[in-house]
Amino acid sequence: MPTINEQVQSFWDIDAATYDHSASHHPRTALELAAWGAALRRLLPSPPARVLDVGAGTGFLSLLLARQGYEVEAMDLSPKMLERLREKAGDAGLQIRTVVGDAVAAPPGPFDAVVERHLLWTLPRPETALEAWRRSAPEGRLLLLEPVAAGGLAEQLRRAGRDALQRLRGEHDHHAHYDPSLRDQLPLATGATPEALVALVASSPWGAARIERLRDVEWAASRSLRSVADRMMGVPPRFAITAG
Ligand SMILES: C[S@@+](CC[C@H](N)C(=O)[O-])C[C@H]1O[C@@H](n2cnc3c(N)ncnc32)[C@H](O)[C@@H]1O
Repeated sequence: MPTINEQVQSFWDIDAATYDHSASHHPRTALELAAWGAALRRLLPSPPARVLDVGAGTGFLSLLLARQGYEVEAMDLSPKMLERLREKAGDAGLQIRTVVGDAVAAPPGPFDAVVERHLLWTLPRPETALEAWRRSAPEGRLLLLEPVAAGGLAEQLRRAGRDALQRLRGEHDHHAHYDPSLRDQLPLATGATPEALVALVASSPWGAARIERLRDVEWAASRSLRSVADRMMGVPPRFAITAG
C-alpha cells in the first residue's frame, strides 16, 4: 500500500499537466494578478525578503513574489508540479530556487516569511507543518491562503451553483478527486472553517493569528465573470491568515 505522501505526490504529478488550465488555480487577468500582488506586498515584509513557498505547485505565489523582487525558494512534494514552475519562471526570466520535499521537513532558511496557498488541506499533520515552518522562519511572518468551508446558507448555495455550472460546461479543476480513503487521513480535507484555521495557528509556535478577507482579490476576480449565471454565483471568498 503506498504511503500518504506517495499517493499525494502521484496525484499532483498527474495533475501538473492540466493544473494551470483552471482559472481558479491560475488567474489570468492582469487585474486579478495585480490585486494578488497588492495583497502579498501588504501582508509580507518588503522585498528583497527571503520567502519560502511551501506546496508551491506550478508557482502561482512564487512567480508573483519573484516578479516583485522577493528571493523565493519553492518547495513541493511533486517534481512534476515544480517542473512546470521552473518552465514558467524560465519563460518569465525569473530566478526561483526549487526543492522537492515534504512540507514537514522545510529547508532551514532562515526565511523572512513562509507562505502557502491551498496546501494545508492536503497535509496529514498540519500542526507539525506549522511547527516546522516556524523553525525555518524563527523571526519571520506566516501567510496562509487556504480555501475555507462555505459559511452561511447564501454562500453554500452560491458554491453549489458554481459547481453545477462547472459540471454543465464539462470543466474540471483536477484530473480526478482524492480517493476517499486518502481524504479520511487528511484532517482539513473536508474544508476548514476560518475559526478552525485561526485556532490552529494560535495553538502553534506562531502564536496569535490575524485574519482578513481579501475583498480586492475577490473584486478583481469577479470582474472577469462574463455570463449572468456566473455573476449571480460570484467568486469564492478568499481569506489571508497571518502570524509572526
Ligand atoms: C492545490 S496545489 C496548490 C499549489 C500552489 N500553492 C497554488 O497556489 O496553486 C497543492 C500542492 O501541494 C503539494 N503538496 C501536497 N502535499 C505536500 C507535502 N506534504 N509537502 C509539500 N508539498 C505538498 C502538491 O504537490 C501540490 O503541488
